[in-house]
Amino acid sequence: MSQPTAPNKTTSIKTGGVTPDLVLNALSQAVLVLSHNDQVQFANLAAEHLFSLSSGAFARTPLTDLIPQDSPVFALIDQVRGGVSTVTEHRIVLDTPRTGQRTVNVQVSELLDGVADHGHKSVILSLQERSIADQIAHRLTHRDSARSMSAMSSMLAHEVKNPLSGIRGAAQLLEQGANDADRELTRLIQDESDRIKDLIERMELFSENAPLKTGPLNIHQVLDRVHKVAAHGFAKSVSFKKSYDPSLPPVLGHRDQLIQVFLNLVKNAAEAVAPHGGEIVLKTAYQHGISFAMPGQKGHVHLPLAITVQDNGPGIPDDLSEHLFDPFVTTKANGSGLGLAMVAKIVDDLGGVIDFETQSGRTSFRVLLPMSKDPVPEGQDV
Ligand SMILES: Nc1ncnc2c1ncn2[C@@H]1O[C@H](COP(=O)(O)OP(=O)(O)OP(=O)(O)O)[C@@H](O)[C@H]1O
Ligand SMILES: [Mg+2]
Repeated sequence: MSQPTAPNKTTSIKTGGVTPDLVLNALSQAVLVLSHNDQVQFANLAAEHLFSLSSGAFARTPLTDLIPQDSPVFALIDQVRGGVSTVTEHRIVLDTPRTGQRTVNVQVSELLDGVADHGHKSVILSLQERSIADQIAHRLTHRDSARSMSAMSSMLAHEVKNPLSGIRGAAQLLEQGANDADRELTRLIQDESDRIKDLIERMELFSENAPLKTGPLNIHQVLDRVHKVAAHGFAKSVSFKKSYDPSLPPVLGHRDQLIQVFLNLVKNAAEAVAPHGGEIVLKTAYQHGISFAMPGQKGHVHLPLAITVQDNGPGIPDDLSEHLFDPFVTTKANGSGLGLAMVAKIVDDLGGVIDFETQSGRTSFRVLLPMSKDPVPEGQDV
């Protein structure tokens, strides 16, 4: 948050022909100035591109035509008019006919122009589209989660599993001579030991460091399999929609691991939606131009295949977003918080990237994967 330190002093800088307009139009972030009654008074070039409007047309367009009325952007504007000088929020989804679907970081600041009508100050709204750089940063964070998980799971498996089977065996022995009340306790010890063993076995999957053997796959067959498992089991009451790009080239991946990735994402989506009216959309698309420079690797990795799992649940709580892919992060009474950590590890092993967007009523996880140059072998089905 920044406050001007000496508002009464004018600073004199030699501008050498540099005008404020020139500077504002050179910025990659969209900047709008809103008057006290939400009229757009100024829009820079990036804003013209973002909203597909010419600068003259902004004055005639109500703000609610640019940003949907229920968008969190309005709450930010209210906060600034309520006295906070600058507020920032990350990952706001804009989805309008003008902008298409984009995720932006938004900053709203008070404009010190001295015009305020019943507290309705003018404000500066700046919107920065989340960049590929953000996604790379996220990808690397997820890699760290996976790595720390791998070391910890080897240690746990080694140190805990043996004594645990000793404890379980001893409880079994005690059970033989125990009365009913004590038998209940020996059973409890065995059941809880089994639960810990299960958990450790799930974690052990993280320590498998052998490179995955990947090959060409039809991702739609993977998604159909996941859909079938979900619709007959944990997602019985959820309605599924599929929006597949039929011309999608084969993905370079690993069948079982990809099933595990999408099962986890669909399970989370099914657990997030309301018991009635829950909807999950499985979507695939080819995206040109997304490539990454990977640390330690030559050249660029091209990830053109985008697979999205979207739900109409309440969204991911803000305080969770930063650590969502870390192990043991859960809001569920019976959750282990390993689902997304596992997903991040597999996607990373496959050389892909995972990202998410969330707002109330729409949360989507998007997995970007490499494509295979070879065709899917004849007769391969999942
Ligand atoms: N689609 C979603 N909508 C809302 N919140 C979600 C969604 N997906 C994940 N989350 C949040 O992220 C947390 C972590 O998910 P993760 O899959 O890692 O663990 P979990 O589902 O709680 O437990 P487990 O997968 O081990 O059963 C969840 O507890 C939930 O709060
Ligand atoms: Mg889960």
